[in-house]
Amino acid sequence: MRKDRFYITTPIYYVNDVPHIGHAYTTIAADVLARYHRTLGDEVFFLTGTDEHGQKVQKAAEEKNRSPKEHADIMVENFKKLWKRLDISNENFIRTTDEDHKKIVKELLQRLYEKGKIVKRSYSGWYCTPDERFWTEKEIINGKCPDCGRSVEHISEDNYFFRMSEYQGWLIDHIKKNPGYIMPESRKNEVLGFLENQTLGDLCISRPKKRLEWGIPLPFDEDYVTYVWFDALLNYYSATKYLSLNSELPWVVDRTPNSDWWPADHHIIGKDILTTHSVYWSTMLQALDLPLPKNIFAHGWWTREGRKMSKSLGNVIDPNEIIDRYGTDALRYFLFREVPFGLDGDFSEEALIKRVNTDLANDLGNLLNRFLTMAEKYFDGIIDTDVSFQFSNEDQRNFMYFVMNVFGDVKKYWANLSFNLILESVWIFINDQNRLIASTEPWKLEKTDSRALKSVMFKIWNLLRLLPVSLYPFMPKTAEEIWKNLGLKKDNRSLEKEISQHWIKHKEDPNTVTFFNFNWRPEYKINITKGEQLFPRIEKAWQRK
Ligand code: ME8
Repeated sequence: MRKDRFYITTPIYYVNDVPHIGHAYTTIAADVLARYHRTLGDEVFFLTGTDEHGQKVQKAAEEKNRSPKEHADIMVENFKKLWKRLDISNENFIRTTDEDHKKIVKELLQRLYEKGKIVKRSYSGWYCTPDERFWTEKEIINGKCPDCGRSVEHISEDNYFFRMSEYQGWLIDHIKKNPGYIMPESRKNEVLGFLENQTLGDLCISRPKKRLEWGIPLPFDEDYVTYVWFDALLNYYSATKYLSLNSELPWVVDRTPNSDWWPADHHIIGKDILTTHSVYWSTMLQALDLPLPKNIFAHGWWTREGRKMSKSLGNVIDPNEIIDRYGTDALRYFLFREVPFGLDGDFSEEALIKRVNTDLANDLGNLLNRFLTMAEKYFDGIIDTDVSFQFSNEDQRNFMYFVMNVFGDVKKYWANLSFNLILESVWIFINDQNRLIASTEPWKLEKTDSRALKSVMFKIWNLLRLLPVSLYPFMPKTAEEIWKNLGLKKDNRSLEKEISQHWIKHKEDPNTVTFFNFNWRPEYKINITKGEQLFPRIEKAWQRK
């Protein structure tokens, strides 16, 4: 049976600098979606990587007295190491200096050239060297780049142009006909506003070698290299042509050779690169007669005390330091619980500590602890599954409906990437479980009705299964711990495969609605183990020395 497929990407990051919390944010978001889809049993291709050509990298390499490739080889490791520490489960990693990528970029450029979609023209305009882009007289502000505020220089030279202007009307139409193409809604309106009120120009896609050497040479004119964005955007497509076959990762299952992964289900990006994705990339694909991605999601910006993070302000957050202090899962949880995905957020360790203490140590930690302690105390850790549990009173029945509804809603949240609402729902559930334990008072039943106690404990256990299942995409290590605590069997299969048993897919719906399988019963003995406390309280705010 052919599985559902899911192809997700992050931006490919520049190797001129080390990764910071913003890069981590986008990559974890993609990881959350990749993990969720794997637990639904889908076949997933999750791609991240690095953008290694262009002025920025050439300059950074020069400053370090290295060749650009040497510099890239060193810097790429910072990203790879960080993704390991953050439990990023990418099936593959693309580098734009890969020979296969370069070959595909050249082929596609040639195709566009032969179709007459790339033409040579003499051009004069204002050039921002750090941003590697041209501006018109009207666009510059007091002789400065409207984007970064740095000085621009006037340049006259011959260059190659992609005839992007031809596609303005088509693109407006495409965005209107496909409301989910650009998300969130506010970003879609921003792009539409821009396209409807301004004339779309052609895109300069070459840089003369005498000015910039570090790039892919144009196949039809060796005196020029490709504009870095043209090379970079094509990674999403080129990777599907050569990388999807190589993976040796344990969770990659049933990989069909030569499987065609394009188009992507989601390109997850930051709002800073929305224009390049929604305008340049969309029109490039259309000109190449290739299908468009199903969705481009531009998330918001993390700031520090309301200010942009930058090296010169010295306020850049290194994710490695946060992991050292609080652990990977606390960071992963915080980033997606604290701020709705799509909006800007301000990073503060105080807020993170509060989330750990309240949500993780208190609500989640206490719930598990209470249940595991009772299981050990009353039954030496063995939960009897051969019991029926009934919702004997009105409250409990309502509770069950509530759980159904909440998790019914979660599906909509997943489709809209409303990560904070998903986590909020899980926490409503956690708090209701805490109340359920308080209201059923198992400690009283122990003395009066051992059958009822068995039944209640099985019921709670059965509902607690929802925790690792729903938390896994966000906090994979924590979910694995809870999985073990609850005596859910872990054999040689991956945890994702095991979790997929707990979801039921209803295929009759075109969007494939998925439900939690409340009727699932293990065929093995449930052996509870208490283990270490998952999230000890953090008593003191960490102080910067
Ligand atoms: O733009 N808050 O690479 P890049 C949130 N190579 N996200 C942030 C962030 C912040 N403060 N800072 C960075 C490039 N990001 C190109 C992309 S894709 C074909 C080429 C994240 O290294 C966010 O995802 O500058 C943003 O879009 C990306 O890092 C920019 O990374």
